[in-house]
Amino acid sequence: MKKIGVLTSGGDAPGMNAAVRAVVRTAVHGGAEVLGIERGYHGLMHGQVRPMGAASVGGIINLGGTILRTARDSVFKTEEGRRMAARVIEEHGIEGLAIIGGDGSFRGALELNRTCGVKVVGIPGTIDNDILGTQYSIGFDTAVNTAITAIDKIRDTSASHDRVFVVEVMGRHNGFIALEVGIGAGAEAVLVPECGRDLVSLCRKLQAGQGRGKMSCIIVVAEGAASASDIATTITQITGIETRISVLGHIQRGGNPSARDRFLATRFGHRAAELLLEGRTNLMVGIEMGQVVELPLERVVAGRRDLDTSLLALVEVMSI
Ligand code: F6P
Repeated sequence: MKKIGVLTSGGDAPGMNAAVRAVVRTAVHGGAEVLGIERGYHGLMHGQVRPMGAASVGGIINLGGTILRTARDSVFKTEEGRRMAARVIEEHGIEGLAIIGGDGSFRGALELNRTCGVKVVGIPGTIDNDILGTQYSIGFDTAVNTAITAIDKIRDTSASHDRVFVVEVMGRHNGFIALEVGIGAGAEAVLVPECGRDLVSLCRKLQAGQGRGKMSCIIVVAEGAASASDIATTITQITGIETRISVLGHIQRGGNPSARDRFLATRFGHRAAELLLEGRTNLMVGIEMGQVVELPLERVVAGRRDLDTSLLALVEVMSI
């Protein structure tokens, strides 16, 4: 394979730049040319491409966001959108594409392969960590660390004022971030979309804690489970306890990637480029038990990774 394109798609995630760097340098090392595609599939449809040499990815391993930028474009989901992208692929002689993103981006990659035969390899990049077939996706570790750092600060003021804080973290469909953040930050409760919430029991637990002199608490809620404000209001209504909320929001998506994310992204980008150089297609790279693995994209997009909800029991034991 002589020409490889690389793009980032969907929500950005810290470490995407390290993956771009690894794709570019591995491809160049293997004798291929690389084109960087800007703004994901949107840029692919509109011909926003630029050549990328080994030097073009210097000094980006430590940068958050994505230097290629990203987008969510509904036009690409249509037949016409994919035909536009196919024309650009043909015009530029792109034989393979490394797609850094989540499962929506991988569905798009498979459709594109069906449309024009371009070879596609996916690299899991999303802070949500919900992609089937990989224990970790790029950005998750950084996002969790960012949220924990924020909660450490919230804890100071929460303890000083004897307050209950409800902290909302990202995760529209799942509680991967909430669970690790909750355990790592020492939260009294973690609410995730995968499990029903029993706010009456939670209130009893808060009141029992106050009876023992435990006046301040942190409750972590995934955005897909409920809003922090609804939970806080209900707690106050039931118990009369004073609450405050903090919605961490997009702060979790930014910042310099952690060491783990840089390491993971470099391994993923390297293997993805190798697979494309070998002429392989319709695969995703992932990590299982510390080893980089490859698996069919069809299988990846057929489901979602399940949260190990048994770990919520750990929160209960740790917060007695
Ligand atoms: O998928 C990553 C993610 O950060 C989710 O956790 C969050 O719900 C969503 O993206 C936010 O998307 P947007 O940046 O489009 O508001």
